[in-house]
Amino acid sequence: MSSLHVMILAAGQGKRMKSERPKVLHIVGGKALIEHAVMLAIQLKAKDVTIVVPREYRAIESVLAHELAKQIKIHYAVQQKPLGTGDALRCGLSKIPSRQGDVLVINSDIPFVSVKSLQRLINRHKRQQSCFSLLTAEVRDPKGLGRIIRNKDDSVLAIVEDKDATADQHKINEINLGGYLFDLDFLHKNIKRLKKNNNQKEYYLTDLLKIAVKQKRSVWAAKVKDPLEALGVNSQHHLYIINHIFYQRQKDFFMKQGVCFLGSEIFIDKGVKIAFGTVIESPCYLKAGTKIGKNCYIESGCTIKDSVLEDGALIKSSCYIDHARIGPDCQVGPFAHLRPGTRLLKKAKVGNFVETKKTQLGEGSKANHLTYLGDADIGKKVNVGAGTITCNYDGFKKYKTILENGVFIGSDTQLVAPVKVGEGAYVGAGTTVTDDVQSNSLVISRVRQKEIPDWANKHRQKNGKL
Ligand code: UD1
Ligand code: MG
Repeated sequence: MSSLHVMILAAGQGKRMKSERPKVLHIVGGKALIEHAVMLAIQLKAKDVTIVVPREYRAIESVLAHELAKQIKIHYAVQQKPLGTGDALRCGLSKIPSRQGDVLVINSDIPFVSVKSLQRLINRHKRQQSCFSLLTAEVRDPKGLGRIIRNKDDSVLAIVEDKDATADQHKINEINLGGYLFDLDFLHKNIKRLKKNNNQKEYYLTDLLKIAVKQKRSVWAAKVKDPLEALGVNSQHHLYIINHIFYQRQKDFFMKQGVCFLGSEIFIDKGVKIAFGTVIESPCYLKAGTKIGKNCYIESGCTIKDSVLEDGALIKSSCYIDHARIGPDCQVGPFAHLRPGTRLLKKAKVGNFVETKKTQLGEGSKANHLTYLGDADIGKKVNVGAGTITCNYDGFKKYKTILENGVFIGSDTQLVAPVKVGEGAYVGAGTTVTDDVQSNSLVISRVRQKEIPDWANKHRQKNGKL
């Protein structure tokens, strides 16, 4: 079992985001910043993770409870007031009483920092028997970030925050990335030494470097290879840039796997899977939890969320697909809305202006036009005619419609649930089905047609229009 503790600093106000939402719940590639940070701890196989949170942290907890809290032990440490990263570290430390081993501390606003870089930092820290190691990056625009001050022999001396730096220090391009490894014993002994004597009147975690250097302890700064790892989310503009880069990288990755993108506005969230031979037209959004098989074709204007498309599925233009499962060689759309619990079996077809919810459409079955299917269980080779509606709700409860194999539903049918249409039965166009229908019957409830010959001419004459 790993002895590595991870601490994520997530209690900052994020004032620069100008948003009511806690900064760590802003989204990069379909996942909240806090999820990106916790995923790093999981990938590093940490023993546990302590998240320093603001007083009101229910929303953060609930985002993590969904999935990640099942994969790693999470402790929450409340920072009563955002007095700076040094104070946040002190709060987090109260949840890690052990003085043995190390704690990896990461800012929660640097979603591109890689497991590889953090692992390298951990290895180096151990080899050097360092008490404080940190990741740095050489960046073109260091504005707003902590600068790394080095000795002539290249050893690190201090981190100077942008607001406290001199004109000369502002010219330094090597910055503090926001990922640190501390010896726990060093931290417990020295955290109280931090002072607020700086321009922001905050406790700076970064001042611990000076303290370690003064004590002649071994410290280490490792530069990451890719400066993009240092990109932090401090404003909406940063968030926009980071998402832009994230989605471009996703496309680059999938193109190498043999996925074809026609056009540029294609957004593929973190964790989405797409097999080779699939073609996606722009614009499209594939949201978290989606899995696309091989040789699928997704036309422009589709949003697919937490859904599975099996091999060879064709999604025509402008569909919204949410928590659905689409079998091999199915066709959907254009303009279809597949809501949660939709399941289409092999070669089933859902056409234009069709909405489905908690509905299974069996192998080879079709609902091609203007239809609502809710809470329906539909067998094989069923034809659902244009304008069919399942009346599944009485204002209080939802009821089920069952259409057995081979059923033919004529156009403009209402199926008043709960109701079952037996195998092979026919429902005539315009029928309101209120009772179960026997297998192979014809059921029809429309009013008989009445014709009055020449009525129209007489009508026009009467009104003086002939
Ligand atoms: C910090 C570093 C800076 C570094 C930069 C990298 C300090 C003093 N400065 O600056 O050297 O270059 O990150 O991105 O550490 N937080 C709390 N409680 C607080 C304040 C902050 O939990 O009271 C958390 C924030 O939620 C955030 C992290 O600490 O995740 C960093 O805080 P932020 O305000 O973003 O610091 P920067 O100004 O970016
Ligand atoms: Mg920051």
